[in-house]
Amino acid sequence: MLEVTGLRVAYGGIQAVRSITFHVNEGEMVALIGANGAGKTSTLKAIARVLDAAGGDVHFCGEDITRLAPHHIVRRGIALVPEGRGVFPRLTVAENLAMGAFLRHDKPEMAADLDKIYGYFPRLKERAAQLAGTLSGGEQQMLAIGRALMSRPKMLLLDEPSMGLAPIMVQKIFEVVRTVAAEGMTTLLIEQNAKLALEVSQRGYVMESGEITLTGESASLLDDPKVRAAYLGE
Ligand SMILES: Nc1ncnc2c1ncn2[C@@H]1O[C@H](COP(=O)(O)OP(=O)(O)OP(=O)(O)O)[C@@H](O)[C@H]1O
Ligand SMILES: [Mg+2]
Repeated sequence: MLEVTGLRVAYGGIQAVRSITFHVNEGEMVALIGANGAGKTSTLKAIARVLDAAGGDVHFCGEDITRLAPHHIVRRGIALVPEGRGVFPRLTVAENLAMGAFLRHDKPEMAADLDKIYGYFPRLKERAAQLAGTLSGGEQQMLAIGRALMSRPKMLLLDEPSMGLAPIMVQKIFEVVRTVAAEGMTTLLIEQNAKLALEVSQRGYVMESGEITLTGESASLLDDPKVRAAYLGE
């Protein structure tokens, strides 16, 4: 469904992503793991067209999307949940969720999706009228995921949903990520928490200094001595 070939990202003279190639099949959850500064966010931003690739190409559902405008990426059905969440702080929870559906016109189904999201995250329902900027970090992460789902995407790009959250909140959020994936959502999950990411995904890629250095089924990566030493603290 997503095919990334020879993708490069540079900031001025600095090469953040050095020609990486990977893919995500329809219905699959794939993890992209790696240490701080490995180039994970840069990869995701280039796919979502938040920034320009310096080289390589990205195909989605057979179409070359390498140079599409960001709003066209959303129209194609790719929803990015950015690092740091990016909720609209001065809008309420309900308004943020409505923003996620701004391209849709199917009112009854939107209402059903909203119910579903409130079912995933009852906390958001309780706080529907609260300004998003006053939510806790974990609640903002829930909202960011909920907003992405409101666009009814074909594919979800998640950038470190566990970042800065207490274990109990991480657990809650990953329960929903698992549920959404089990319902068939194609997902690219970026995580520094390698254990968690490899436990919920089917396949994984390890990124180091802008390159993919290891790939395989998540279960075998979890058992890989190099992964265990570098990312699982063993
Ligand atoms: N806007 C920018 N200008 C210059 N350099 C940048 C910019 N954004 C990222 N970089 C650099 O690119 C490299 C990769 O950063 P990136 O954010 O993609 O890493 P990451 O794998 O997402 O790391 P983290 O796990 O800390 O979020 C880093 O060395 C970073 O300093
Ligand atoms: Mg990052």
